[in-house]
Amino acid sequence: MIDDIKAKFEALYQQKPQLFRSPGRVNLIGEHTDYNNGFVLPAAINKEMYFALAPNGTGTFRAYAYDLNESAEFALDSISPSDISWANYLLGVVAQLQKAGYTVPGFDVVFGGNVPIGAGLSSSAAVECGLAFGLNHLFGFNLKKFTMVKMAQKAEHEYAGVMCGIMDQFASMFGKQNHVVKLDCRSLDYEYYDFDMADYRIVLCDTQVKHALASSEYNTRRQECEAGVAILQQHYPEVQSLRDATIPMLAQHRQEFDPVVYRRCTYVVSENNRVEEACRNLQKNDMHAFGEKMYASHEGLQHQYEVSCPELDFLVNQTRESDAVLGARMMGGGFGGCTINIVKVDAIDAFKQQMEQAYQQQFGVQLRTYIASIVDGSSLVS
Ligand code: GLA
Repeated sequence: MIDDIKAKFEALYQQKPQLFRSPGRVNLIGEHTDYNNGFVLPAAINKEMYFALAPNGTGTFRAYAYDLNESAEFALDSISPSDISWANYLLGVVAQLQKAGYTVPGFDVVFGGNVPIGAGLSSSAAVECGLAFGLNHLFGFNLKKFTMVKMAQKAEHEYAGVMCGIMDQFASMFGKQNHVVKLDCRSLDYEYYDFDMADYRIVLCDTQVKHALASSEYNTRRQECEAGVAILQQHYPEVQSLRDATIPMLAQHRQEFDPVVYRRCTYVVSENNRVEEACRNLQKNDMHAFGEKMYASHEGLQHQYEVSCPELDFLVNQTRESDAVLGARMMGGGFGGCTINIVKVDAIDAFKQQMEQAYQQQFGVQLRTYIASIVDGSSLVS
């Protein structure tokens, strides 16, 4: 695929580009915790966006979206959000660089890849991080990786209108082959853990449900969490976010909470605890205990945080009786997208077949499954 992108670039712009890649991500556990300053455990996967980039010596940037076969051109002295939705991920990154005081010279870019769009694998973060990484390299801005991660996140806030946390962009940039990475979203400390790819595979089951409510519900969840923090702060001034809260604190003041807000907060605090326990399980190579945490995470997302949907619940339920599946849960923002499943290597084919058949029978839809391997974060290809 990267060769096609390179060839397209050369045909369109008559020069040799530099090539970059930036991956999508999975998240093993720690959902809706990042914007609560909590813990997440993502990994970058072999579904990636590729970029061909070169300076063009003008005051504009020209972009070609390979997968859509569409092009657009923008003046660099007047960057603002566009009606072309794919271009906003690029524009958002350029805007952040400019805001930070960097002069972005004219450039040409062709980009495309195999991250399924709208499946919850963070194709948008892959685009943002890939362009930030590529421009940083091309023009020698000398930016730290975390600076680029934050710029990519801001691009999503300001040009895509989703008030996302930092997880997706972090994972795309900081991923490491065959490792998951635990990020403390408060301190930004991170730690890599081996993930046993000899015996297990990460299998994604794509519901193909793209819920129209997802981004508005996402922003509502953020507000509900903030409402919970405001109540706790009256009693515990040190509580700056749900990361600082505990289950006993919540229980003690339950009457003061709206029941919905109480459920949301309980979920977030429990999920943070689960990430820490799950990491201890990984250290001991206790994959069964790890898988149990994933099921518990799903329970919380379904009943307390209420961001699941019938298709996701069905797919998770299908795996409960299976010896081949250690853990399963919905992944990402919710209301559609994929479930993530830890499946024994020798049972992969049977698992896929059973899930496809069950999903077809229940919803009349052909299930898509992806086997994800864990790869390095954004990099220069050549
Ligand atoms: C989306 C956001 C992330 C994170 C997840 C939920 O993927 O982009 O920042 O909040 O949802 O864990």
